[in-house]
Amino acid sequence: MNENINGFKNLRIVDNFYQTSSFFPMPTTEIGTLNEDGKTNLGSYSLCFPYYIAGKDYYAMILCCRNSSNTAKNILRTGKCSINFITDERKYFKEAVRLGYPGETTDEKMKDCLFTLVDGKRAQDNKEEKYPKIIAEAFQVFECTWVRDLDGAENDKVQDEYLPPYHQFNGITSQHDAHFILKIDNILMKPKYYDAIINGVNSWNFPNVPVDYGYRDNKNFWYTKFKKPNAEPIPKNKGISLDTVKYAASRIDPEIKFTDEACMKLVKVPRVFLNTVLKGCVSWAKENNINLITEKEMDIIQDKRNSEKK
Ligand SMILES: Cc1cc2nc3c(=O)[nH]c(=O)nc-3n(C[C@H](O)[C@H](O)[C@H](O)COP(=O)(O)O)c2cc1C
Repeated sequence: MNENINGFKNLRIVDNFYQTSSFFPMPTTEIGTLNEDGKTNLGSYSLCFPYYIAGKDYYAMILCCRNSSNTAKNILRTGKCSINFITDERKYFKEAVRLGYPGETTDEKMKDCLFTLVDGKRAQDNKEEKYPKIIAEAFQVFECTWVRDLDGAENDKVQDEYLPPYHQFNGITSQHDAHFILKIDNILMKPKYYDAIINGVNSWNFPNVPVDYGYRDNKNFWYTKFKKPNAEPIPKNKGISLDTVKYAASRIDPEIKFTDEACMKLVKVPRVFLNTVLKGCVSWAKENNINLITEKEMDIIQDKRNSEKK
C-alpha cells in the first residue's frame, strides 16, 4: 500500500539508503593510506564530509568506511591518510571504480594504477616519517590524521572480526563499519584554484568536480560531469541599519567605543552574527590597548581576519 502524500510516495528505507533509497550527491575522493609495507594504497570513497568546520581548535572531516577495507585497517594502524579529490574525466572515474572493487591487496590494485603518486607537504616537512603519498592529478588534497581519542576509540585495533560493544561515531562503529574523524593537517591546492580562492572565484575558475551518485542498479556506479556553476547574490535590503549597529556597538563593552564610520563597516553583517563580530573587535582592541575603534582599526581587524582565513 503506497498512498499519495501531497505528490510524494513513501519509499522504504533500506541499507545504504543514500544510494538505494534516494539520489544523494557526493564527492569522489581517493583515500591514500599506508599498508604494512609502507606502500600507498588508494581506495575510492564518497562518504567523506566536513565534520568540525569552526569553533574547535582544529578542522576535521568524517569518513564512513567498511571496516574490513584496506583503508580502514591502515587508518587504524597508522592514523594517517590523504584525501585526494579527482576531476571529472571519464578515465579517472573508471579508475575510481576499479580502485573501489573490494577484496584486492594494495599490490594487486596499485600495480597498474593510472594516477601518479607523489609526496605531500607532510612528507616534505618531515623526512624521517612515512606518510601516504598524494595523487599528482588531483585538484586538491587534504592531508589528515585520525583523531583516535574521540569517543574512546584510542584502543581500536585491526581484527578479523569486530564484536560489540561498538563506538557511536569514531573508530569501529558496528560489525561492518568504521567511522573516522580526520583532523585536516594541510589543504593542498593546484595553483589555478589556489588563485581562484585567494583572488575571487568566477564561473570559469572552478575545478571540474564530478558528482557521484553511488552504486545504484547492481551493475554501475553513476556520476555526472561538472557544469559551469551559477552565482546567486544574497538578497538585497537584508542589511541592518546603521542605528542597529551603533546601538549594539555601544552596549558591547563599557571600555571600548566605536565611531559611526567603524559601525558603517558592519551594516552588511547578518543580525545573528553582529554580536560575535563586535566581540571579536573588542577583544582585538583590548589586546592592542585601544579604546576607540575607528574605520582604520576596522580595516586592520578585517585584514587580520582575511589573512587568518588564508
Ligand atoms: C566512487 C566510489 C565511492 C565509494 N565510496 C565508499 C565509501 O564512501 N565508503 C565505503 O566504505 N566504500 C566506498 N566505496 C567502496 C570502496 O571503494 C571499496 O570498499 C574498496 O574496496 C575500498 O578500497 P580499499 O580496500 O583499498 O580501502 C566506494 C567505491 C566507489 C567506486
